[in-house]
Order: sequence, then C-alpha cells, then structure tokens
Amino acid sequence: MAMNEPKTYFIRTYGCQMNELDTEIMAGQLHKKGLIAASDEENADLLIFNTCSIRDLAERKVMGKLGRMGRGHKRNQVIGVTGCMAMAKKESLFRKFPHLDFVIGTNNITDLGTVLDEVLYTKRQIVKTDDRFEENLDYLVAKRDNKIKAFVSIIRGCDKFCTYCVVPYTRGQEVSRPPESIVEECKKLVDAGYKEITLLGQNVNSYGKDQPEWNCLFHDLLGKLDKIPGMERIRFMTSHPIDITKELMEAIRDLPSMCEFVHFPIQAGSSRILKKMHRIYTKEQYLEKVALLREIVPNVSLGTDIIVGFPTETEAEFQETYDVLKDIRYSLAFIYAYSPRKGTPAMRWKDDIPEEVKLDRLQRLMALQDEVSNEERARMLGNTYEVLVERFNKDGKMLKGRTRCWKKVIFDGDESLIGTLQQIKVHSFSHETLIGELAKPQGHLKVI
Ligand code: 5AD
Ligand code: SF4
Repeated sequence: MAMNEPKTYFIRTYGCQMNELDTEIMAGQLHKKGLIAASDEENADLLIFNTCSIRDLAERKVMGKLGRMGRGHKRNQVIGVTGCMAMAKKESLFRKFPHLDFVIGTNNITDLGTVLDEVLYTKRQIVKTDDRFEENLDYLVAKRDNKIKAFVSIIRGCDKFCTYCVVPYTRGQEVSRPPESIVEECKKLVDAGYKEITLLGQNVNSYGKDQPEWNCLFHDLLGKLDKIPGMERIRFMTSHPIDITKELMEAIRDLPSMCEFVHFPIQAGSSRILKKMHRIYTKEQYLEKVALLREIVPNVSLGTDIIVGFPTETEAEFQETYDVLKDIRYSLAFIYAYSPRKGTPAMRWKDDIPEEVKLDRLQRLMALQDEVSNEERARMLGNTYEVLVERFNKDGKMLKGRTRCWKKVIFDGDESLIGTLQQIKVHSFSHETLIGELAKPQGHLKVI
C-alpha cells in the first residue's frame, strides 16, 4: 500500500474515444491538484489504468499488465483502475490484485481527487462505482495534448441493450449534457484555435431524449454548434441506425461545419441475427435508411462496425453480411469476432461458432473491405479535397491530415500549414494513405 503524496502521474488509456476524453479530464483534475505528468509508467507516483471491457482481449491486456505489476511492485506507487473494467469487476479487482489502491467507475471520475485523498489518508483500498452518471463533471478542466482536434462529450451511457454489449452495464443509463454547457465548451475550444470537434456519446442520436423539457434533440444541438463563429468542422461518434433521423440527415446536408461522414454500424447483414442481437431494425430497414441518407447527402461516406460469429450465425447468414458490405461500399469498416461478455443477455447462448470459423469470416470481410477501400481511393485520384493539416507524417517529411470524409492524406508543405485547412489534389495512394499536393490556383480568373 502506497504512503506518500504523489507528485507525478501517468494514465494508460485503453478502448474508445470516450475513454481518451475521460483520461484528459482526469489529467486536468490531477494538474489542478498540482501533480505533473510523468514520462512513463515506471516514473509515475500515481499510475492509472483507464480500461475497456468491450471484448475479452481488451480486458486480458489490462489483467496481464496488473498481474505483472504486482510481481514487480516495490516502490511507493499509487495504482488505480478506472473505466469500464472498473465497473464490470468492481472490488473483485482487489482480490486479484492486492497491490491496487483504488477502483473508480465511469460515472465517478469527478471523485478522483477525493478518492485519492481517502486512499492516502486511510491507507485502505477504495472503490467508487455508481450505476448512474450525475451531470457534475467539470469538462472545462480537460487537459488536451492535441491543439487542433478535440473530443467533446454530449451524452453518456446507453439504453439500447444490444444482447452482446457490456456498455449499458459499464456506462449506465443515457444522461445528456445540457446544451449550454456543450456550447460553452465548444466556443472556448474554437476560440483557442481548435478546428475540428468530435461530439462523443455511446449513442449521440439519443441526445436530449432523456430531457424533453430542454427541447433540444441532436439535430437541434448541431444547429447551435454550427452557428459558433469560427467553427470549421464537426463530427460525431457513434450512432445507432434506428435513431438516425431525416432531420439529422438534413443537418448534415445543410450545416456547413458538419463533416459528410456517418458511422452507421450495421453489426450483421441477416435479419434473424439482427433480431437476436436486439438491434431493433431489419436488414431491409437499415438499407432503406442508407438509401435515404445517400439521397439527402449524396457525397456522404459511411463507416460501420460488424460482428462475425455471433451465436448460431450460419454460413448463409454470414454471406448476407458479406453481400451487404459489398453492396453498401463503406469507407471504413471495423470488423470484430464475437466475444461473449459476462452479464450480457447473449451469454445465455452457447458461443458455438468455432474460433477458426470466426477468424475465417473476419478475414473474408477484411479482404472484401480492402478491395472496396482501394476502389474508393482510386476514384479519388485527380480530385481536390479539403484537408485539415494535423502534423508531420511519421517519416517527418510530409504533412499529414484528413479530409472531411476521414481519409488520411499526406503532401509536401511546411510547418506553418499545421492547424490550417488546405485544398489538396490527390495524385496517388499507398495502402490506406492518399498522396497529394497543394492545389495551385487555377490559372487566371476570368472577369466577366
Ligand atoms: N464481441 C465482439 N464485438 C463487440 N462489439 C461490442 N460488443 C462486442 C462483443 N461482445 C463491437 C460492436 C460495437 C463495437 C464498438 O464493438 O461492433 O459497435
Ligand atoms: Fe470499451 Fe465500450 Fe467502455 Fe468504450 S464504452 S471503453 S468501447 S467498453
């Protein structure tokens, strides 16, 4: 058990963007308390693992790490676990890892400071894992390393209860953040020079439904944010297809700052599997929505998540997923093998698809998506796109940025372009990266 007041901290983050943002908020709270960031895990007086439970592999990584740390634990280091695994495992983590000092759930990150004080004062292990999120977080304290793009939380939790998913249990019920608070943070970010804001929630499209008296649904919120002077780009993650409304599609079409990219996770292409997953739409309903979105926003790019090997999925049902992927032609697809999660309804079904079958299905979909993405990149050659320039590429020579549709582009240019929006003409690509050049002024302007 640690004794000394920590002076430095290190937070290791696993999982999704919401976790990355929670890490930034925790880092901000620690700075406010006077701690400074350590260069690595070893050198930190306070070490926090902000964890993920979405798939078995995510949990195993942290469990392995905590086990190894216990064996080599010699110095006065305070160690805490936060995030989704904290919610899924709670105090049982102390039994497995006696060297752990605290466990703080996703709904208690406001309490980090007091929990830390309590650990130091009582020298006891402390656990704080409320089921419900109370809207009392100081979002403005977030310490962001990126100066160009920022995550902003708009709703926490999930009420959808897909049968495979731990999120409703690890993050609790949906709680929307007041629009004024979101607008205030976004204004501050734009004033500080941020060019792109990604609105975060497990299901952003549910925004405002839990607070009807606010009279502010997701598309209304987008309207408010788009009006902020200097707001260049807005994105959002992630959506449930059932809640993607016509109003939202029109907002993407009409609001200049809205990027034309929608993450539209289908999960499976068979209506029987979708029903078993409790996705509350059929394949046909999903396809109709995609058609409507493409009608309203013709230049939209789509992203998706897919799970292969869900219990009882037949080869023919997998083939339906394959065909949908081929038909829809997503820009981006995250493909996962089903992994049973404790406490979820799907646990009552046998995980009956052998691992090698899951892997084979996974690889077939990945190969297909590679083909689709290559074709898309080939279609982009010769065209000019708006790119937000973020930094130098890994090689240190070319600049790297992303188009509004989330495509990575590299091109030659100097440091002064970092943080600006540029028109880049794409001339080739290598793997997933498009290669281009600054678009030259188009000859003489004809004055008429
Ligand atoms: N097994 C595999 N993939 C999962 N996902 C969520 N739960 C599971 C699970 N038990 C995937 C879904 C979701 C993404 C974030 O992770 O595709 O959209
Ligand atoms: Fe992982 Fe989901 Fe929790 Fe994000 S919300 S950390 S993806 S379990």
